[in-house]
Amino acid sequence: MADLSTNKVLGAILGAALLTVGLGVIVPEFFPLEPPAKDGFKVEVPPDLLGGTAAPAAAEVPPDWGTVLPKADIAAGQAATAVCQACHNFSPAGTNMIGPGLYGVVGRAPGSHPGFAYSSAMTDFAKKEPVWDYEHIYEFIKGPQAYLPGTKMTFAGLKDQQTRINVIAYLHSLGSNLPIPKPNPAKAPAGTTAAPAGATPANGPPTGGVAPTPTPASAQAHTGAEPPAK
Ligand code: HEC
Repeated sequence: MADLSTNKVLGAILGAALLTVGLGVIVPEFFPLEPPAKDGFKVEVPPDLLGGTAAPAAAEVPPDWGTVLPKADIAAGQAATAVCQACHNFSPAGTNMIGPGLYGVVGRAPGSHPGFAYSSAMTDFAKKEPVWDYEHIYEFIKGPQAYLPGTKMTFAGLKDQQTRINVIAYLHSLGSNLPIPKPNPAKAPAGTTAAPAGATPANGPPTGGVAPTPTPASAQAHTGAEPPAK
């Protein structure tokens, strides 16, 4: 009978159609379109590029921004951001790359650059810290993972203090609205790199003819000359 073979043909077509629909529904289950947990991109910077010795973290005293920023070397800071440029754009266009655009980042709210998908570590941080001020950027770029565990910024960090100060001065020059505070000498305790040992004394011009060079011998003589107890 003709009806029977027509039914078989229609049945075959229907079956094929169901199978196609079924696969379409099932297959995405096996290939979920989730982003990878980590960006497959890590920039390692050799320690000697970062300014040498890794000082123990606890020993570092945060600088007095009003003192160090006006003296910072913006050009050196810009040069040091070569390592950042693999991931960040610094132009006013604010283009997002692997990392968010950084133009104007000093003084802006963390995790707030339009169009960038921040980590939850960063958005959680933003709930506690409303502003990327000098101090927070200083700590973050020293060791992003240590400062903000879970951040998507897979960068070893800039260990050298002066390099970070220069980078922050450069970032500040890029359309920042955050004022530089007045110098506060009380906040710059002796022993920090805010006053480098190599600084020339203001009253000792090289033309003076005498270049006093402290020797270990004189230092020893000094410690030996303790006044007798009375
Ligand atoms: C390997 C890529 C990479 C490198 C190199 C890198 N960053 Fe990042 N950076 C990121 C990513 C990704 C984020 C977003 C972090 C998140 O969401 O947790 C980020 C975030 C930041 C933020 C916070 C921005 C905001 O909008 O809240 C600052 C500031 C920053 N980076 C500065 C720097 C500086 C300065 C350097 C160079 C010394 C640098 N980064 C190097 C990838 C990188």
